[in-house]
Amino acid sequence: MAADKPEDGTPGKDQGATPPAGGGATPKGAAADNPASPKTPASPPKEPAKDKAAPPPAAKKPAAKKGAVEVDKGLITRRKMVWASTTGVLGLWLFATLRFFFPRVLFEPSTRFKIGFPDDFGLGVDTKFQQAYRIWVVRDPSSLYVIFAKCSHLGCTPDWKESENKFKCPCHGSGFDSEGVNFEGPAPRPMDRAYVELDPEGQIIVDKSRLFGPDDWKEKGVSIPV
Ligand code: FES
Repeated sequence: MAADKPEDGTPGKDQGATPPAGGGATPKGAAADNPASPKTPASPPKEPAKDKAAPPPAAKKPAAKKGAVEVDKGLITRRKMVWASTTGVLGLWLFATLRFFFPRVLFEPSTRFKIGFPDDFGLGVDTKFQQAYRIWVVRDPSSLYVIFAKCSHLGCTPDWKESENKFKCPCHGSGFDSEGVNFEGPAPRPMDRAYVELDPEGQIIVDKSRLFGPDDWKEKGVSIPV
């Protein structure tokens, strides 16, 4: 009919909306087959995901290096220990060798020494040389003598008790009077006295290498007259 075709040749409404021949409404399944379809680009994003998952193998390499470093550190530590042990042994050997060539000499204080003039000592017991020479200097109204500060029991050094006017041994309790004569405890006899004499200048010389027991106290050299 003439009413369906316009005279100026422009297509009608129905003609413009009509898809090209052979087309028509596109089925849903067709969009997946067509590469130009807007839904097609959805698959490419998976490839970057593969790239992100790739690094783990690369991460294993540092682990291997770390293990190698630890092995190296352990090796260095063992080497240091071996060197330290070797050096210590060599040092001891060298010390022992040198020690062999140097004799063991014990430097003891001389047994013969001067202690001053008789007037330097007052009446009674003077203990100022106990630490240096292990002696006490005793002065009475007529003489001066020196007691070797060694207990006659087992050799301890007694203490002078000024208030008690006696020597008291701290080891087993022996007591000695101001002349060194035992009167209590296990000490079997008096303490010894050391040789004394005056030098040309009048100073007192003590010789501890010469000791006198009570049986010899009357001999020359046991005391100095003052
Ligand atoms: S050593 Fe002095 S009492 Fe025994």
